[in-house]
Amino acid sequence: MTSAVSDIAPDAIINCAAWTDVDGAEEHEAEALVVNGDGPNVLALAGPRLIQVSTDYVFDGNKQGAYVESDPTAPRSAYGRTKLAGELNVLAAGDRHSIVRTAWLFGVDGANFVETMLKLAVDRGAVSVVDDQRGCPTNTAHLAEALLDISLDSGAGGIHHCAGAGETTWFGFAKEIFERTGTPCDLTPTTSDQFVRPAPRPANSVLEATRSDTPILPAWTQGLDDYIEARKTVEEQG
Ligand SMILES: NC(=O)c1ccc[n+]([C@@H]2O[C@H](COP(=O)([O-])OP(=O)(O)OC[C@H]3O[C@@H](n4cnc5c(N)ncnc54)[C@H](OP(=O)(O)O)[C@@H]3O)[C@@H](O)[C@H]2O)c1
Repeated sequence: MTSAVSDIAPDAIINCAAWTDVDGAEEHEAEALVVNGDGPNVLALAGPRLIQVSTDYVFDGNKQGAYVESDPTAPRSAYGRTKLAGELNVLAAGDRHSIVRTAWLFGVDGANFVETMLKLAVDRGAVSVVDDQRGCPTNTAHLAEALLDISLDSGAGGIHHCAGAGETTWFGFAKEIFERTGTPCDLTPTTSDQFVRPAPRPANSVLEATRSDTPILPAWTQGLDDYIEARKTVEEQG
């Protein structure tokens, strides 16, 4: 890895790679730690400035109100613990490196919640979605621009919160997806208790940016509109 970095000699590295199987990490925490904890450490020590993408899952979700950069971390899942280990390794390697916590990503060319909802609407015509987890849906195209901006700002080290502006629940997100795409679907709110998964999720993972040098992303609803346009274009191009 270090020789690859010295061969390419980049100005900065934006590390999006991660073990992202949140449920799978519960039984494979050691393996996830290698990718999410050791990987960023290697990159942070390789020379160039590192922009490390991290997650809202470093928080336990018990806070009333949005999480700011300095709030105490307390991950509830193995995935969150391994991502936090990566953060701590990067911060220990130097304050010129940046941690960018984001959340609830969706983007073209990848599996995501929007595509899952649209497929379920077609396949089943009805879907139940949890209405007791709050967060900030984030269009990856918007996040990518912000990551680039942060990478170009050599003074922007430390922790950033960077997610779609505003907040909603997964149910609220699904409702907007069906309304904005004109997709008929019988949508019912449910609770996390009714939809148990191996890894617990934070009930509140709304991220707020308090730093003036953090790029502010468009509203998540704008992110959704832009995504719907982008996927139409991809479909039209066949
Ligand atoms: N998805 C979300 O809602 C969300 C929310 C907050 C933060 N994040 C963070 O955002 C980043 C991107 O997430 P994502 O959901 O877009 O992830 P993703 O689609 O699962 O992509 C992860 C990428 O990491 C690569 N990767 C995994 N292990 C690797 C290894 N050992 N060496 C090299 N590459 C490796 C994967 O390559 P292969 O395809 O070849 O396996 C894949 O391209 C991650 O840091 C994640 O923790 C995601």
